Amino acid sequence: MGKLVDSVEKEVSAMLPDKLALRQAMLVRRSSLPAPERAEKNALLVRRLLDTAWLRAAKVLMAYLPTRGEVDLTELYDVLGRRGVTLVFPRVTSRRFRRMELMAVAAPWRQHVAEGSLGILEPVEGAKLCNKEIINVALIPGVAFDRAFYRLGFGGGYYDRFLPELPSSTLLCGIAYSFQVVPCLPTDPHDVPLHALCTEEECLLARPAVY
Ligand SMILES: Nc1ncnc2c1ncn2[C@@H]1O[C@H](COP(=O)(O)OP(=O)(O)OP(=O)(O)O)[C@@H](O)[C@H]1O
Ligand SMILES: [Mg+2]
Repeated sequence: MGKLVDSVEKEVSAMLPDKLALRQAMLVRRSSLPAPERAEKNALLVRRLLDTAWLRAAKVLMAYLPTRGEVDLTELYDVLGRRGVTLVFPRVTSRRFRRMELMAVAAPWRQHVAEGSLGILEPVEGAKLCNKEIINVALIPGVAFDRAFYRLGFGGGYYDRFLPELPSSTLLCGIAYSFQVVPCLPTDPHDVPLHALCTEEECLLARPAVY
């Protein structure tokens, strides 16, 4: 039985494009998105997210600051910040070990972030380390996603190392443009599946009854 499963898995993985090829193709496609279309899709995504019960209920949100053409949700952070939601962003603590930590930023959040070691905006020195147990929702960018809620990132393994440290009560939501959702992603055992996926066209939940 084990051998049969192994051989089926090998056949399936032979049919899938490898992670590197898919990553490169998707990054080219995403970077060629014209600015007006990008802005329109970002705005649709912000509205869609604000319409979800689980985001409206969140008191502490782990978010991200966009890099290399990722969906820009910064207007969402402005709205939620004004509503008193605590915003928490990752900060790279070790490039060697590909680790990041979570820092809570004071309001208004734009005044407390600056470019970090990877050229991505991060909380500045002095931001408070955030207890992971209190994160209600984590918005997670990616290069590609599939409908089984798997995610392909830039290939550093930063999120894959970090996500298992969040409590099971945190809703993990992937964020992407709809063209980034593919039928089936190649995965490895360390890849962490998410609970939700939101694009400008739809918000999918893995277990709707729970949220
Ligand atoms: N939990 C883990 N422990 C140790 N190594 C890991 C872990 N998760 C991922 N890695 C390593 O990180 C490398 C990159 O993983 P992968 O290709 O899945 O990245 P990714 O999901 O695209 O990146 P990211 O998580 O930064 O968005 C892999 O070679 C893997 O060995
Ligand atoms: Mg991965």
